Amino acid sequence: MLELGQLIYELDSPSLLIDELKLNKNIEEMSSYAMENKVNLRPHIKTHKSIDIAKKQLQSGAVGITVAKISEAEVMASGGITDILVAYPISANQKIGRVIRLLSKGIHLKVAVDSIEQLKCLQKQLEHTSYTLEVWIKVNSGLNRCGVEPGQDVLQLAQAIVFLSKLKLGGIFTHAGHSYGAATLGEIEKIAIQEGKAVAESAQLCEMSGIPIQVRSVGSTPTYKIAGTIEGINEIRPGNAAFFDGIQVGLGIASVEACALTVLSTVVGVYEDRVVFDAGSKTLCLDKGAHGNESIKGYGTVLNHPEIVLQRLSEEHGIGVTTNTTSLTRNDIVQIIPNHACTVVNQFNQFIVHREGIVTDIWDIHARGMNQ
Ligand SMILES: Cc1ncc(COP(=O)(O)O)c(C=O)c1O
Repeated sequence: MLELGQLIYELDSPSLLIDELKLNKNIEEMSSYAMENKVNLRPHIKTHKSIDIAKKQLQSGAVGITVAKISEAEVMASGGITDILVAYPISANQKIGRVIRLLSKGIHLKVAVDSIEQLKCLQKQLEHTSYTLEVWIKVNSGLNRCGVEPGQDVLQLAQAIVFLSKLKLGGIFTHAGHSYGAATLGEIEKIAIQEGKAVAESAQLCEMSGIPIQVRSVGSTPTYKIAGTIEGINEIRPGNAAFFDGIQVGLGIASVEACALTVLSTVVGVYEDRVVFDAGSKTLCLDKGAHGNESIKGYGTVLNHPEIVLQRLSEEHGIGVTTNTTSLTRNDIVQIIPNHACTVVNQFNQFIVHREGIVTDIWDIHARGMNQ
């Protein structure tokens, strides 16, 4: 039975731990940056999927939140959060129906748009209602996922929105996720500058044509501190920076000490050349990094045991090869920094929150497992 005040090393495993002081520091770092650089902060909550953490971010100065899914927006709205950007080009009838239900509850929802066809779908369904929807144009700044190309294509879409009675253009945004494939900090800087310029220059073009653009938003954890300084940018949307993880450490964006999320795991076997842990792919995920990242070698970082490389995962086993002799023996408990915090969070129902190894709270992961 889990109790507050317990030592984390007495807990059952695998468990998902948050170091509360590190989380608070990471949240504070994002909001201080936003304040100092006079940009709004709209963190992406897909990393933690928690109403409690989203509220901490709002209390620390965020103007609203970003989500990837309409289901995440529904969960966050049920927790009392009212200013939400759905950074996804929604156009299916089912999804627009859910957007309308959120509007009917007074949620200040904004939805990403990136094509005339999508605008038509939104306009058509909203015409049956009394609601107007705020839309933000998504720009492709190099990730080559969704989004229109910067410049003229953005202007064309903006001009189309102006003529639609049920849509209101609120902003232009981009996400430079390809920064995760960068090999050096210099490359990240180049991508971040392009990211900021793609939005700022597109907004300028719209304004020169008489279409005001209120929000000009950028952001990924690797790029936001640089992209946020580009003239004309007035909002940042970091997500992963709440926790950081092995990928951010590999990129040189965060230190191991800053990583707030760890998986508590037990040694279930020690063999001549390997140590086996009770955290496999269902816990740590097989993620080695998004968008071509090659900076990490194993499937997680075993804290205080640099001699272990987590070389293979099966569903319930993590197999660590030993590069040197190890002190680990059966039933020892370790903390593992996951490679990709966001996907690991999605595997658990709860965070166990601790301060210096003593359990202080338990938080539900409210929006986990929501694929729609
Ligand atoms: C549209 C959008 N904005 C912001 C983010 C946050 O990026 P990161 O987790 O790198 O901070 C993401 C991440 O996928 C995203 O897709």
